[in-house]
Amino acid sequence: MNMPARVKLVEVGPRDGLQNEKLPVPAAIKVELVHRLQEAGLKEIEVTSFVSPKWVPQMADAAAVMAGITRRPDVRYSVLTPNLKGFEAALAAQPDEIVVFGAASELFSQRNINCSIAESIERFRPVVAAARAHGIHVRGAISCAVGCPYEGEVAPERVELVARLMKGIGVQHMGVADTIGVATPLKVQRAMEAALKHYDINDVSGHFHDTYGQALANTLIFLQMGIWQFDTSIAGLGGCPYAKGATGNVATEDVVYLLHGMGIATGIDLERLLDAGKFISDFLERKPNSRAATALLNKRAG
Ligand code: HMG
Ligand code: MG
Repeated sequence: MNMPARVKLVEVGPRDGLQNEKLPVPAAIKVELVHRLQEAGLKEIEVTSFVSPKWVPQMADAAAVMAGITRRPDVRYSVLTPNLKGFEAALAAQPDEIVVFGAASELFSQRNINCSIAESIERFRPVVAAARAHGIHVRGAISCAVGCPYEGEVAPERVELVARLMKGIGVQHMGVADTIGVATPLKVQRAMEAALKHYDINDVSGHFHDTYGQALANTLIFLQMGIWQFDTSIAGLGGCPYAKGATGNVATEDVVYLLHGMGIATGIDLERLLDAGKFISDFLERKPNSRAATALLNKRAG
């Protein structure tokens, strides 16, 4: 097994975690969450999305959130940009990385970004070129890499196609995403193997939603493949407004507990992470959606 000694977590809570919340979360709360996450040792934070506010009202404050953050030089801040309009707005906010998000399923592409897979690549092409010309790193995401809420099972060949197209336009990193949390380990392994035909093992990551409780098992099989980068969300927040039935991302607390228990370094202080999770959960008036956080907070309470 080529299990990594160290893992990098990309905290997507402020973006994927909050994008689906019905009640508006004030920019100041989002900024405070980012601050608490970086205090807990997270070095990569996906802050927000420069998308249409008609499509995702919760992300309408993207510029204000980016402007409100007290940046740390050792932390990288990323934002989602679906098109040139989003990229131009993002540019003013000086992200370290942008994310273009496509899908392995045609219907999901239509529902999420209102265009076909082929059209999405043509939209991303100038975004990627502009970002790279500005020295901004470009990450890609392939949604519905195993299953789609509208098309059902998705074949690995679909993932391979999108990975090839994204590589062809200069996307530097590829996230394989189980948008609706239906994947199980062997299926997600096959999806990742398809992406690895075009991307180096050091340029891929896993993005798991935990709808069916499989996210930690899926994380483990990726670790066994030697993958060392994962997206996770504080307190298990998350869901895509265009992926009906999907629940939150795998909780950062659960993944950190898993990794530390296996002797894999993350640089994250689990106690401070718990505080960050409690902060946002208290604001949302619910308990953290994380087994590890629940157990550790109960232990704290004595
Ligand atoms: P569209 O309606 O086809 O866009 O939306 P359009 O180019 O025809 O423009 C229509 C209107 O939107 C115009 O305004 C544009 O100016 C405006 P109007 O003239 O009507 O007043 N507009 C924008 N405004 C702000 N920012 C922009 C922007 N672009 C156009 N960037 C579009 C196409 C892509 C914009 C839309 O479908 C959209 O915003 N989709 C975003 C959906 C989204 O954010 N989904 C969640 C994130 S993906 C996810 O969660 C999955 C992930 O976690 C991985 C996984 O789990 O799978 C990443
Ligand atoms: Mg997601």
